[in-house]
Amino acid sequence: MEEMLAYTQCVCVCVCVCVCVCVCPGRELPPICSDVRQKQRLSIDTLPPEVKAPFPCDPVIPLRTKTTKEFQEDMERALHSGDWREVREFYLTTFDSFIEINAAFKREANGSFNTIDDSGVNAKFVNAVYDALLSTVSTHTHTHTHTHTHTRTHTHTHTHTHTHTHTQHFICCFTLINPQYSSTSTYVIYAHLLRQIAALSEADHHFLVHWLKKLSARRFRQLVERLLQFISTRLFPAEPDELPPLAKCSWWIPSATKVLGLFNAANSVSSPPIMPFTDFYNITLEHIDFMEQYRTWQSHGNSNKFSFCQFPFILSTVVKKAIIQRDSEQQMISEARQSLVSKVSRRQRVDMNLLFLNIKVRRAQLLSDSLDELTRKRCDLKKKLRVTFVGEAGLDMGGLTKEWFLLLVRQIFHTDYGMFTYLKDSRCHWFSSWKCDNYSEFQLVGTLMGLAVYNSIALDIHFPPYCYRKLLTPPTAPCDQNALVGMATATLDDLQQIMPELAHGLGELLSYEGNVEEDFYLTFQVFQEELGVVRSHNLKPSGDKIPVTKQNRKEYVQLYIDFLLNKSIYKQFAAFYHGFHSVCASDALMLLRPEEVEMLVCGSPELDMSALQKAAQYEGYSKTDTTVRCFWDVVLAFPLELQKKLLHFATGSDRVPVGGMADLNFKISKIDVPTDWLPISHTCFNQICLPPYRTRKELKHKLTIAISNAEGFGLE
Ligand SMILES: *[C@@H]1O[C@H](CO)[C@@H](O)[C@H](O)[C@H]1NC(C)=O
Ligand SMILES: *[C@@H]1O[C@H](CO)[C@@H](O)[C@H](O)[C@H]1NC(C)=O
Ligand SMILES: *[C@@H]1O[C@H](CO)[C@@H](O)[C@H](O)[C@H]1NC(C)=O
Ligand SMILES: *[C@@H]1O[C@H](CO)[C@@H](O)[C@H](O)[C@H]1NC(C)=O
Repeated sequence: MEEMLAYTQCVCVCVCVCVCVCVCPGRELPPICSDVRQKQRLSIDTLPPEVKAPFPCDPVIPLRTKTTKEFQEDMERALHSGDWREVREFYLTTFDSFIEINAAFKREANGSFNTIDDSGVNAKFVNAVYDALLSTVSTHTHTHTHTHTHTRTHTHTHTHTHTHTHTQHFICCFTLINPQYSSTSTYVIYAHLLRQIAALSEADHHFLVHWLKKLSARRFRQLVERLLQFISTRLFPAEPDELPPLAKCSWWIPSATKVLGLFNAANSVSSPPIMPFTDFYNITLEHIDFMEQYRTWQSHGNSNKFSFCQFPFILSTVVKKAIIQRDSEQQMISEARQSLVSKVSRRQRVDMNLLFLNIKVRRAQLLSDSLDELTRKRCDLKKKLRVTFVGEAGLDMGGLTKEWFLLLVRQIFHTDYGMFTYLKDSRCHWFSSWKCDNYSEFQLVGTLMGLAVYNSIALDIHFPPYCYRKLLTPPTAPCDQNALVGMATATLDDLQQIMPELAHGLGELLSYEGNVEEDFYLTFQVFQEELGVVRSHNLKPSGDKIPVTKQNRKEYVQLYIDFLLNKSIYKQFAAFYHGFHSVCASDALMLLRPEEVEMLVCGSPELDMSALQKAAQYEGYSKTDTTVRCFWDVVLAFPLELQKKLLHFATGSDRVPVGGMADLNFKISKIDVPTDWLPISHTCFNQICLPPYRTRKELKHKLTIAISNAEGFGLE
């Protein structure tokens, strides 16, 4: 190693900061919210065997007492004199083994750290050492990675001491900060480090997750991005010889993904999250054979074989949607094949309609006809949808389907119709608690949402995030018809998203210092207005006779929340739930976060107008015509609010289906009318019709008026 260091003056190729953690057996683990754990499958036992590395034992740690200040002084002296011996000696000793690393960077060499707040690492010192590295790396381009390897070989040489304690090794995340790991030449080392971390015990992972939370947002993001880059480079190396052959390092990707899982868990338990969950996606993964990954996951579950589906946070909504769609397609094809085979074998004529979900409705009875049709054809829901309106010619090339969705959604969510209440404060819809004998219309709404996912339509509906959480509880419909659904735990925060004023009031009740009983004068009875009639409900038996006091106010709040978000709308919600899951009946739903379901149903909130421009088609115009050029100039310069309005004007929703603008078939057509006319749109065809305006100013003026006044759907 000495000779390798010889041609770089400065040594600096360090690696691992390893810290011992003492986990007392009886001690309670820090909480990671249970559904996060279930989703991310954090348990070490679920790790594929190839990821598991042998486990080092307890080291005896010598004392080293160099301080940050002393190190910095050494560096300065070396920079000044050109004599790097002192610094080199430090790096050599420190990165010689995990024990030495511990000795150098642990705040108390023999101290045991087992709190989630304190990793016991002298972070300041570690940062100083790495910063020194960064600054010297820039001046000495030839740095070497061999010390890494050296360190690694020492990993397993620790001596046993007191194995009866649960003292365990802990390679701290700080190691991952090393700037050198962004270069592919160091990936071999990086991979080994990742394997060590992935193979730590579940208890250590708990601590790590809580310590990762404490990293600065910048560092955190940097580490996540590096992991993503590592994974995608391993999947798709830029040059064939850049990395060792894949067969030799099949454990790389599983290890890295697993470590990324720890970061994702840390992000999920932080509130607010350190970075958006969508930043854990990497679009390069859209090019892998994800159906293969999905099948592996389905047949092997969470054990044995690695599949990205065990770590769904890395798969983008585009991938997840594709999996759900193909999964259902395959279910459908195998069913269609069976009925075809049986027809052919009985020598009956084969009707091509067999392959479609044909919905035939009268405009005047849209809702009841649709309901009847969908009920009658509930076995065909996963087939390709084709809509006809009675008495109207026209082959459904997508426009009629879209129109059917738009019209139905408009009717269903109209407040006069009574199925949903619109809550102005939170600008969302919530189930109306009105009792009736038949909740099949709620089932229809769920079915529609499922169909929208399959048919790539973005629905303009506004449910609160909590609704999508309920929809995924449980993620696939239980076999037992009577099992409860939608039992997602509800907190004051969830109520806040839906009825902010009420939530605020309940919050005040909870924190009130004075005499709750006398000043609030409440009982366990609540009042609710339904279609103009006020009704009372007891939150528990004889609730109207039980006063709310300081002692029982928590119970009152919890019962109130449960009443509003569960009990009073239970039948409605259950019908809705089963409607959705009758269409989206795929295990792939387990891969989804509630936010992702919302994106699949309502489209992605991210607008990319230049992508829309790229995908746009023209009729009567060409790309280079003045009007078209003015149009894009104006639209690209619009503020976000107007861009959304434009999209709503043209397509009926201000969001685009997941998968992007290209799916939209957005079209600009010419209408030969005088230029003092306003633009019009055909939302069913995602089409906007422009008179031949000559100037930007004129176009901007007319377009702004048109899109700002287009209330409702403007169905043409
Ligand atoms: C660690 O060692 C030092 C010096 O030997 C001693 O003073 C200190 O009490 C020890 N700390 C723990 C937690 O054992
Ligand atoms: C995905 O990985 C590629 C290749 O490493 C990288 O260039 C890109 O920035 C990553 N994208 C995201 C969104 O992280
Ligand atoms: C509920 O109403 C729908 C549509 O009107 C009807 O088809 C269904 O049979 C009714 N169900 C019950 C249980 O009454
Ligand atoms: C939700 O409502 C259902 C139906 O009324 C009830 O059985 C269930 O206990 C409620 N869930 C919770 C968590 O209280």
